[in-house]
Amino acid sequence: MKAIGVNTGTSRLKDLKVLDVPEKPVDKSEVKVAVYSAGLNPQDYRMVEVPDAKKADLVERPNPLIISSEFSGIVTEVGSAVTKFKVGDAVYGRPPLPIFGCLAEYVFIDQKFIAKKPQQINHSQAAILPVTFQTAYMDLVTKAGVKPGQTVLVLGGAGGVGSLAVQIAKDIGARVIATGLTKDMDRIKDLDVDVAVDSQKGELAKISEKVDIIFDTVGVKAQAEAIHLVKDGGCVVSCMVVNTDPSITDNSTITFIPFEFAQANEEALEFANKMVEKGDLDPVYTNEISFNSNDVISEVKDALNAIWNNTKKGRTVVKIK
Ligand SMILES: NC(=O)c1ccc[n+]([C@@H]2O[C@H](COP(=O)([O-])OP(=O)(O)OC[C@H]3O[C@@H](n4cnc5c(N)ncnc54)[C@H](OP(=O)(O)O)[C@@H]3O)[C@@H](O)[C@H]2O)c1
Repeated sequence: MKAIGVNTGTSRLKDLKVLDVPEKPVDKSEVKVAVYSAGLNPQDYRMVEVPDAKKADLVERPNPLIISSEFSGIVTEVGSAVTKFKVGDAVYGRPPLPIFGCLAEYVFIDQKFIAKKPQQINHSQAAILPVTFQTAYMDLVTKAGVKPGQTVLVLGGAGGVGSLAVQIAKDIGARVIATGLTKDMDRIKDLDVDVAVDSQKGELAKISEKVDIIFDTVGVKAQAEAIHLVKDGGCVVSCMVVNTDPSITDNSTITFIPFEFAQANEEALEFANKMVEKGDLDPVYTNEISFNSNDVISEVKDALNAIWNNTKKGRTVVKIK
């Protein structure tokens, strides 16, 4: 089958190419999925371009490395022990780390790492959900344990992960304060936050309401600027940094929950499905690359560079079928 990636440990983004990868037999609990769309993320760039995985807090790089760790497609074969899916089902999901492997004609994946794709969204919309949604869900629900009635401050509420954290927190019944840049205020207000804070206009300093959880997608400086708002016993959870400011770690009443790669998580996908079905979640992608285009390699390289350097806004998918 055709796939896009690099095939040695020393290959980098410049070496990205269309690989011819052998298909494998479907294991007992696996399904074979014809991939219709695959999502691109900063971690695809990092896995290809950063040579020392441990130094970069990454997982070990598989070889060959087929990029993309999220997909949506149609089941074409099921293993003998598969109970949840049948041939023809539309499914989406994310393989467990360190496997990426989704920018390929087929994905072979255990049934526990996928969910049925809700009818309300197309394959490209579904393909951009797993990584960001599972990250927001893991940090906010599983680790920080958000509860109805609590108050959550999302730093970077207009971003990929932050906007999902806002929507999950609202869905659970929390009150949400979200910060963003001036240009993103309309986007943040559209998410129905309770309080929208323009961080470029210094509006955070005017907030006096205490919060139970800070959900950080921006970085250490923003965490330090907001830490005085956290109640005793509250927490700061970050989806991007492992270490934080001493003003946070030295405060024994506040817990800092560091970055960790979110793992494939069926519970999170089921939660996303319920939100989509209720009309509470409508994933938006802005760039769609065709797998069958003659320029696919240069387009994927450009997209990964732009994602990494933050020069292109919105989510990018590669449409395979
Ligand atoms: N743990 C995981 O598995 C995992 C998964 C996905 C992502 N991540 C990490 O999480 C971080 C966020 O990812 P993302 O995809 O959500 O990125 P993103 O879409 O760029 O979101 C960050 C948002 O914060 C905004 N922002 C920047 N500075 C700000 C400030 N001072 N105040 C308020 N808003 C500010 C950004 O605006 P501009 O875009 O205009 O700068 C952007 O809207 C990244 O470091 C990423 O690597 C981790």
